Amino acid sequence: MKKINVALIGAGFMGKAHSLAYVAMPMFFHPAPAYPVRKTIVDVNDAVAAEAAIRFGFEKSSGDWRSVIEDPEIDIIDIATPNHLHAEIAIAAAAAGKHIISEKPLARNGAEAKTMYDAVKNAGIVHMVAFNYRRTPAVALAKKYIEEGAIGEIMNFRGTYLQDWSADPDGPLSWRFQKAIAGSGSLGDIGTHVVDMARYLCGEITQVNTQLKTWVTTRPVQSGTVDKLGTGAKNADAPRAAVDVDDEVLSLLEFENGAIGSLEATRNAHGRNNFLTFEIHGSLGSIYFNYERRDELQVAFAKDQGDRKGFRTVYTGPAHPYGEGLWPIPALGIGYGETKIIEAYDFIKAIVEGGEVSPNFKDGYQINLIADAMADSAAKRSWVSVPRVTD
Ligand SMILES: NC(=O)c1ccc[n+]([C@@H]2O[C@H](COP(=O)([O-])OP(=O)(O)OC[C@H]3O[C@@H](n4cnc5c(N)ncnc54)[C@H](O)[C@@H]3O)[C@@H](O)[C@H]2O)c1
Repeated sequence: MKKINVALIGAGFMGKAHSLAYVAMPMFFHPAPAYPVRKTIVDVNDAVAAEAAIRFGFEKSSGDWRSVIEDPEIDIIDIATPNHLHAEIAIAAAAAGKHIISEKPLARNGAEAKTMYDAVKNAGIVHMVAFNYRRTPAVALAKKYIEEGAIGEIMNFRGTYLQDWSADPDGPLSWRFQKAIAGSGSLGDIGTHVVDMARYLCGEITQVNTQLKTWVTTRPVQSGTVDKLGTGAKNADAPRAAVDVDDEVLSLLEFENGAIGSLEATRNAHGRNNFLTFEIHGSLGSIYFNYERRDELQVAFAKDQGDRKGFRTVYTGPAHPYGEGLWPIPALGIGYGETKIIEAYDFIKAIVEGGEVSPNFKDGYQINLIADAMADSAAKRSWVSVPRVTD
């Protein structure tokens, strides 16, 4: 039984999701390519990290991420910190020859992402960026249908990611509202998930025409490093400071294959929770997915007899992507955890088999370039071409 030692940096929301994935992956995908050992967990100081080790089942803890880079026992560096730390940690990890999974967005902007891609591309390691939603089985099934030509030539992609956790103007000024830490607002945080879906399903984005808008321009200053995504204690009496990132992004898209499309993302849409959707229509049919109903893929085919035309629902299960490892009956329920379990499986399988996995740092860099082009387009109020990562 091959074991692989993990150091996880950042014990917040994603620290929880990744820890769960390492525990559960061998239970789902049996035999596992390797069995992850939760070796060391790192957070801002020794006390926070020690508590996290108990909670998430790690053997050791550290208040300094550099200690795990230097540790020869560690095989995988898992970066689950706020965005401003991804680059420094990843570059050090690549130099130490560790395999790396980094949370998304890969970096705060394209220039920073380039330094990360440059660090990993000749390092002989497996690198992955954690855009996990494409690993929802229904999304992977949409990809399969598209590749099989079931909906013909892709004509249009309409993607949304709508949440409401930041709609309250007294919600705290967490790291997600600070450009120096996050890089951008809804654009980088959730808009990039839609960009990942768009590239995965429809190919490369070549041009964008974008609007960005900030509605809540100041928020009460937050104490502590963890972003509670609107669920933490609010303190409207705390001093307020400026929000310097976008609340909303709206963009038109042009794809290399001639398709056109649109993207919308906001964390201020009352009533929307994790409304990550896409609808794609092609010359032979259409596909619709909504993460809030993530066991389901809606499909409509032009060839259907006239009185049967319309969307039908396919519930994902054993016959569909990743079905061999998941639950034995369709519609038993795929959760957020399963997408991270599949992500851990694909990452560790690539390490063991010596292959590559996607999305990798090259994809993450390209996605940062698309996000930069969107910000540039919004500033110029015009179409902007997206540069392409070539090597
Ligand atoms: N893939 C997804 O669906 C998804 C969802 C949420 C967040 N994310 C990404 O995951 C990353 C983390 O987000 P989160 O929601 O878990 O944030 P969070 O605020 O819940 O947790 C971040 C953790 O990092 C710790 N941290 C901060 N500075 C540190 C340092 N110097 N050393 C070690 N630890 C440090 C914090 O104390 C905290 O425990 C971000 O890049 C975010 O964009 C991805």
